[in-house]
Amino acid sequence: MTQLRKVQIAGTGSFAPEGVITNADLEKLVDTSDEWIFTRTGIRERRKAADGVATSDISMPAARQALDAAGVAAKDLDLILVGTVTPDTMLPSTACRLQKMLDAPHAGAVDMVAACSGFLYVLATGWQFIQTGMYDNVLVVGAECLTKIVDYQDRGSCIIFGDGAGAAVLTPSTEDSEILYAELGAMGDEEIMDMPGGGSLHPASHETVDQRMHFIRIEGRRVYKFAVNKMVELVRSAAEKNGYAVSDIDYVIPHQVNMRIIESSMERLGLPLEKAYTNIEKYGNTSAGSVPMALDEAVREGKIKRGDLVVFVAFGAGLTWGSTLVRW
Ligand SMILES: CC(C)(COP(=O)(O)OP(=O)(O)OC[C@H]1O[C@@H](n2cnc3c(N)ncnc32)[C@H](O)[C@@H]1OP(=O)(O)O)[C@@H](O)C(=O)NCCC(=O)NCCS
Repeated sequence: MTQLRKVQIAGTGSFAPEGVITNADLEKLVDTSDEWIFTRTGIRERRKAADGVATSDISMPAARQALDAAGVAAKDLDLILVGTVTPDTMLPSTACRLQKMLDAPHAGAVDMVAACSGFLYVLATGWQFIQTGMYDNVLVVGAECLTKIVDYQDRGSCIIFGDGAGAAVLTPSTEDSEILYAELGAMGDEEIMDMPGGGSLHPASHETVDQRMHFIRIEGRRVYKFAVNKMVELVRSAAEKNGYAVSDIDYVIPHQVNMRIIESSMERLGLPLEKAYTNIEKYGNTSAGSVPMALDEAVREGKIKRGDLVVFVAFGAGLTWGSTLVRW
């Protein structure tokens, strides 16, 4: 078998649009309160992209930052992968629009749909292309403009979601820093979370609009139960399948799904909460944007140091899930 190459995350970037939706703003739209939202989710506010601003627009600054941090020029990119459920348009892909904005003429470009696990899917895929020697420089992005598909009449979902983008540049590694392992999984179940309108099953029509089928619907309580178990299982298996104990993990970058889910998962893993990065308070759940935004902030704040053993973990609509183990 051909020797597989080591691959590193050479640079990261993130971007959150300026608009802010506070819990007080939501109190004016639905029957809720700042106290309920904060105690049940840990969210104080989330960001909102302005009208006319799309997912590629917020991906662009995150991608530029990641390229600068990696010291890679856009013209040297071989592949651009974007994880998103809020593409600019049904076609072309957001990745193609980003490729044009970045001026990366030699890169292939495609979107991947895995909801909140989107970044874990693009990361694992990009890793494979460099491992095998097919490509050298891959840009992976997780980005969402969820406020464009949130139903601001549904208090069970509108309090959760926000907009944001994160990016990473992958390159071959000549040092100890490398991606060690990735796990991806799925279990088809469209009842827990979906946005049914606008695809080939329910093409856009007056009826789909009247029935509010172009908005996200979630069964929050079912997601909650699934998420705690899955987060614990994924972190444990990422460590154990690679010969580590859970206690060897230096840092966890969890999907920013709900502060209580993160707290109880860390407790069940026997890891102190300080070992998990959280920014849910200011951004809410940005789906595919969540893990790469948290990763970038953790790197810039010096929470992750060279040589640390770091786990990324996420789960979302599909259902889908993923984890990545990295020697930073
Ligand atoms: C959505 C979520 C915050 C709801 O919290 P919860 O503690 O599970 O609350 P429940 O859904 O059990 O609802 C409890 C009560 O609060 C009410 N409630 C729901 N949303 C509310 C809101 N925004 N404000 C006030 N009350 C609310 C419910 O109607 C229910 O009232 P009832 O007991 O009279 O029926 C939580 O389940 C969650 O974070 N889920 C995962 C997030 C998610 O789905 N992310 C997307 C995919 S990763």
